[in-house]
Amino acid sequence: MTRAVTLLAPAKINLALAVTGKRDDGYHDLRTVFATVDLADRVRVAPYRRLEVRITPDVGVPPGDDLASRAVRAMAKVTGHDPAAFVHIRKRIPVAAGLGGGSSDAGAVLRALASIWKRGDVDLVALAATIGSDVPFFVTGARVAFVGGRGERVEPLPDRGSIHVVIVRSRARLATKDVFAEFRVADRHAAASADVLRDAFAHGQVTPQLLRDSARNDLLGPAERLCPWVADTRARAAAHDIALALSGSGPTLFAIADDRRDALRIARVLRRLGLSAHAHTMAG
Ligand code: C5P
Repeated sequence: MTRAVTLLAPAKINLALAVTGKRDDGYHDLRTVFATVDLADRVRVAPYRRLEVRITPDVGVPPGDDLASRAVRAMAKVTGHDPAAFVHIRKRIPVAAGLGGGSSDAGAVLRALASIWKRGDVDLVALAATIGSDVPFFVTGARVAFVGGRGERVEPLPDRGSIHVVIVRSRARLATKDVFAEFRVADRHAAASADVLRDAFAHGQVTPQLLRDSARNDLLGPAERLCPWVADTRARAAAHDIALALSGSGPTLFAIADDRRDALRIARVLRRLGLSAHAHTMAG
């Protein structure tokens, strides 16, 4: 009897995100650096007679349409298995926040099924790209990576340990599709930053200051236009000398701290402004 597999599915932050062009397939080409954060969902996958995905607490994802269900169906199709598994996701990562929660869950499901069905031969990165653009990064299990194409080219990067960050959540949700649709060429300013960060990680030269200087995201303009909370929150934090960057397509914002003490100070200042701000660590 094959046993159940339980994996932690971490959230991510995009440390820099450059949109380099629009493709014929409607997606955009990216150059971005992903880093995992110590905030994670717990994903348990077990053999079962049919497909059932249980997400607790209920976050309002329509049953069957979630990325974990899609991952089971995609893996079943390429391996010739029945699309049958019991998936239980304990959600801690906020949804539609730019933290990659649903994609990370899907990546964990693919890894778990490859193990349960003993199919180490499947090209999980290529399969992941058919589920969503962020899924290839998560399926590699990398802590940090440079990601290109629409998300399917993943180049894991070495990291030396932890960087302290403060994550600022919004109650607003932003659909990735809407944010990309709002993107204009004039929003581009992050191309060099993604490459600078890739080199710094490759050579072990990452510092909090470098991360702050490179934290640029070409989706910031679109996210600010669609979600006034983003511009408003960044302006209020800037008045206290705190630079907030956008993760992915938002609306989640983050600040890079010098150390844990600095992260706790930043979180305190932001909470006094009425924001939901918490200190975390991220691979760096
Ligand atoms: O791949 P995923 O389903 O996560 O993407 C959601 C939407 O975001 C896509 O339908 C597309 O409109 C947009 N997108 C994009 N370029 C990317 C990733 C996503 O235009 N590299």
